[in-house]
Amino acid sequence: MRRDLGDGYELDDDRDRVDVDAVHAYLSGEAYWAKGRPRTEVERLVRESQRVVGLYKDGAQVGYCRAASDGVSFAYLADVYVLPDHRGRGLGLELVREMVERGPYADRKWILHTRDMHALYAKLGFGAPGERLMERDPTKR
Ligand SMILES: CC(C)(COP(=O)(O)OP(=O)(O)OC[C@H]1O[C@@H](n2cnc3c(N)ncnc32)[C@H](O)[C@@H]1OP(=O)(O)O)[C@@H](O)C(=O)NCCC(=O)NCCS
Repeated sequence: MRRDLGDGYELDDDRDRVDVDAVHAYLSGEAYWAKGRPRTEVERLVRESQRVVGLYKDGAQVGYCRAASDGVSFAYLADVYVLPDHRGRGLGLELVREMVERGPYADRKWILHTRDMHALYAKLGFGAPGERLMERDPTKR
């Protein structure tokens, strides 16, 4: 799948196209949830995640997200980012929309964690968890 977003921007779910160095630089250096993540882990997750979607500007990696799923009962959205220079023009929304609405897991129950981007995900149908969802967090034990 490739989707032209105009103005040189493109979404692509080809994992072989992902610039692992660029994704690692952002996640390990900037992302509050992945600070210090080793490149080998980032590379493994690009390879082993059920699906990855990259955002490219004139061919360069400027955004990314990935999904973990068992292909049946759940899909977990992770590592969503758009580089600062490209934010605020709807690209993050399209990146996530591609993953959750247009991909092969559109009918799965999606879950995610976020510190402050609830409004973004709410636009795509995410809401507060219901009674049935539980979480085991080792940092809270
Ligand atoms: C989250 C992120 C991917 C959004 O990318 P983006 O291209 O700027 O997003 P969009 O322009 O598509 O914005 C879509 C919606 O997201 C929300 N949003 C975007 N930036 C926001 C911000 N700084 N604070 C709060 N909400 C924000 C808004 O609801 C916005 O809709 P609006 O423009 O109608 O208000 C980007 O800000 C980013 O990479 N942030 C740092 C990493 C991060 O926090 N990732 C998410 C982890 S859960």
